[in-house]
Amino acid sequence: MKKSFLLLALIALLSYQGYTQSATKLTITNDDSKLTISRHIYGQFSEHLGRCIYGGFWVDPKLPVAKQDRIRLDIVEALKKIKIPNLRWPGGCFADEYHWRDGIGPRDQRPKMVNTNWGGVSEDNSFGTHEFLELCSLLHTEPYIAGNVGSGTVEEMAKWVEYLNGSASTTVTEMRKANGHPEPFKVTFWGVGNESWGCGGNMTPEFYSENYRRYATYARDYPGTPLKRIASGSNGKDYNWTEVCMKQIGTHMWGLTLHWYTLPTGNWNKKGSATDFDEAQYFNTMKNCLEMDEIVTKHSAIMDKYDPAKKVALVVDEWGIWTDPEPGDHGVLYQQNSLRDALIAASTLNIFNNHCERVKMANLAQTINVLQALILTDKEKMLLTPTYHVFDLYKVHQDARYLPVKFESPDYEVGGNKLPALNVSASVDASNAIHISLVNIDNNKSINIRSALTGLNWKTVTGQILTSAHITDINTFENPGKIKIATFTNAKKEGDELVASIPPHSVVVLELK
Ligand code: AHR
Repeated sequence: MKKSFLLLALIALLSYQGYTQSATKLTITNDDSKLTISRHIYGQFSEHLGRCIYGGFWVDPKLPVAKQDRIRLDIVEALKKIKIPNLRWPGGCFADEYHWRDGIGPRDQRPKMVNTNWGGVSEDNSFGTHEFLELCSLLHTEPYIAGNVGSGTVEEMAKWVEYLNGSASTTVTEMRKANGHPEPFKVTFWGVGNESWGCGGNMTPEFYSENYRRYATYARDYPGTPLKRIASGSNGKDYNWTEVCMKQIGTHMWGLTLHWYTLPTGNWNKKGSATDFDEAQYFNTMKNCLEMDEIVTKHSAIMDKYDPAKKVALVVDEWGIWTDPEPGDHGVLYQQNSLRDALIAASTLNIFNNHCERVKMANLAQTINVLQALILTDKEKMLLTPTYHVFDLYKVHQDARYLPVKFESPDYEVGGNKLPALNVSASVDASNAIHISLVNIDNNKSINIRSALTGLNWKTVTGQILTSAHITDINTFENPGKIKIATFTNAKKEGDELVASIPPHSVVVLELK
């Protein structure tokens, strides 16, 4: 009798544990904080580097693809589909050696320079201010221009802004008109330098902050175009940089940047391959990627001290995985893009969505053929990477109202080390459709979820999934559709609850209506 009681108790305990382990409970609440996930979190970055601009957006006139001027239109169409909200240009490190006057006027008369940062190649300046802004207008995206603080003068930056946005007749605005653009371009996102702690001038935060104040003062607001001035911020975990900038610049800036790259090995000298990695390295890469949450949290806490009203945006204008370049001659910083990269993109975007109170802008590095690219090209061929598909899935969050999600993630365990296997973000759009993006980074196990949605009405659930057999899988020019979005059928409504099973190494976006 005693024995059978113990047996029953054991069975009850085991089945209770089995129940709790088998479904992760998510609490999604319709709170009334009215926080918005800014569409600018989904921004992109395009530098004069490798084959991003030249051979990417801007191609040889003889290349047999549809073009407007030399802008490649198949790329424009692909990027329009994912609604890229802003495009950062011309760098990067290139920005602090770029002199805008070299990139205007008749192309055959533009000076040539050496791109000292990126391969020492010859830069003919054929892609300059007008070409970039034409590209932005074709993409229906907002320009985000990084001005030169490292090697440029205050006057040079002031005149560039006047050239772009001035309406009164001056020598500079007349030049713009003569170059074919009578109306002001109305550029608002304005970077005051880039990585001023490194390639942008090797400055101290104190020296940079003083300089910011000078450059930003003369980068004027023109009628109807108040500038959103963005200060060059921290290198990853350099919290002192943020502290000093917040103390010395405070709310005299629209945003302060942060750069954080995911390195598979964590070592800048040997970063690791984009395609050839095992599960241990995958685990390590995801660990480095998920660190973004802690880094953003710590920078935000410093910003809160000086700016409790959260007027200054944290602008993560360089992020993504940085691997060793692909072997062969594909251009500087060219890397392939695997399912692992899609999981990185989706997890990072979930982190940004969940920090939307402070993170109001971000830019993946870089759009085409460089680092974590959305698009790869080989002459007239092009392919959409797994990362592109994540931005396609996640576009539903752009400018949607943020919904907080609470849960305790199961562990993803490799070699005795653990990471949270699941990350999630959610929002509700203007038509009251709810979107939940779920990432299961566990390479082996599915995760069952169950959720009551408090204060939200819905009747149906549909979904889309991005996954593949292996985390190393990639799209190639021979097989460009290996990894693509598919319909997800593993979610349903049970009573009032949402129930779903998220497969290993997958990104799922659910729509509840
Ligand atoms: O994105 C590549 C480079 O990384 C950028 O030019 C620079 O800002 C950063 O160090």
